[in-house]
Amino acid sequence: MLVVGATGGVGTALIPLLAAARAHVIATATDGDAEVLRALGADETIGYRASDDPADVDVVVNAVLPGDRLSVLARALRPGGRLLTVTHPVPTTEMVGRDGIELHFVIGLDVVLGDMRDMRGMRDIGEAAERGELRATIGRRYRLDEGPRACVDFCLSVWLVAGRDIGRPVLSLIRNAATRRVAARQLS
Ligand SMILES: NC(=O)c1ccc[n+]([C@@H]2O[C@H](COP(=O)([O-])OP(=O)(O)OC[C@H]3O[C@@H](n4cnc5c(N)ncnc54)[C@H](OP(=O)(O)O)[C@@H]3O)[C@@H](O)[C@H]2O)c1
Repeated sequence: MLVVGATGGVGTALIPLLAAARAHVIATATDGDAEVLRALGADETIGYRASDDPADVDVVVNAVLPGDRLSVLARALRPGGRLLTVTHPVPTTEMVGRDGIELHFVIGLDVVLGDMRDMRGMRDIGEAAERGELRATIGRRYRLDEGPRACVDFCLSVWLVAGRDIGRPVLSLIRNAATRRVAARQLS
């Protein structure tokens, strides 16, 4: 199974789940991020170039490339393989440019567009997190009074790809005099 965009928020949540399901996971990563992905459960890491992609994989999960680049990913699949993608726009068969594979646009973790009734997968994920089996990958922690800095760092890392950490920024609600003052200001 190939996971493209594996270093992001979606990818870092997905890799441990796939590893727990005993899938053989090939994940995209830059050299600096490869070790973290292996620790999360990836068996192999590859670079971002199309020429790095493996051939004849059973499943490709796309968590980053836009629809007009899905045809590149579809080429990595074996006949009858499955391409799951989470990015907009909702993909069409024409975008994939290949017959003989399954194409799924996924919302949430297992809800296929058009049928939002079955949220069982999301419940399973929530319960796994509560049991401590699924851990969030945290990039950087901020105190509550550092909220504006957290927003600026996040935007810079997304738009300028500068100083990026794998994982999400987290704002901690630690109770101390400074955070009480900030909370009081925000509530007034
Ligand atoms: N359908 C849904 O329910 C759903 C839910 C959540 C998110 N999404 C969508 O899923 C996408 C990903 O969300 P996210 O929160 O995981 O984003 P994210 O945290 O920004 O992750 C994107 C990752 O892709 C990597 N990347 C960039 N270019 C790449 C390339 N050419 N090949 C491989 N990896 C590459 C980036 O790494 P670098 O920093 O090294 O560039 C980054 O780690 C977004 O489009 C979001 O809108 C959909």
